[in-house]
Amino acid sequence: MKSNSEKDTKQTLEELENETEACTRCELHKTRTNVVFGTGPAKADVMMVGEAAGYYEDQAGEPFVGAAGKKLDGLLKKAGLSRENDVYITNILKDRPPENRDPTPEEIEACRPYLEKQIRMIKPKLIVALGRFAAGELLGRSVSVSKEHGSLEDSSYGGWHCRLFISYHPAAALYGADAAMKLEEDFEKLGEVVEKLDEFKTAEQTTL
Ligand code: URA
Repeated sequence: MKSNSEKDTKQTLEELENETEACTRCELHKTRTNVVFGTGPAKADVMMVGEAAGYYEDQAGEPFVGAAGKKLDGLLKKAGLSRENDVYITNILKDRPPENRDPTPEEIEACRPYLEKQIRMIKPKLIVALGRFAAGELLGRSVSVSKEHGSLEDSSYGGWHCRLFISYHPAAALYGADAAMKLEEDFEKLGEVVEKLDEFKTAEQTTL
């Protein structure tokens, strides 16, 4: 049985999800099949943020269910994390860009309030940025994943302060052995980082 505060949080997240389902803030609403809002426990300590839905995610309305998702499932196990119990997974964009093209700055900006609110509701101790778009958006600067992957930073996004881990995107594993190896290394390191979660401080900025 869930406590009232857990229920309230869940309902609020559900309300936000309903809001995204009616969203027309950018052109992507015209081509989406489903909004891909996010999945996982509403109070997860670890939040993972990818780029945007692909074909299978758009069909299912859930993040990371295609080839990159299968890879992510294996990587999560490696880090000792359960997708069902430990991690909330979402993307920078809640809709699929046609032909899986890169998100545009306008689309990222249009979707930003949803990600900011999601993070403030979930209150993660650690955010894992999967790939350069997620890392760039969450850190507010351009990120070279090949140089910065595996590093732990301080993040302040949407008024929520916590730690942020930069990883290669799971899809990188589909493009070559070298990237696949670095990705495995990132998640091995993530497993070590996650063991220290209880030491991580978080803070909320109340005047936004
Ligand atoms: N790639 C992403 O960045 N997100 C998904 O949900 C699927 C693939």
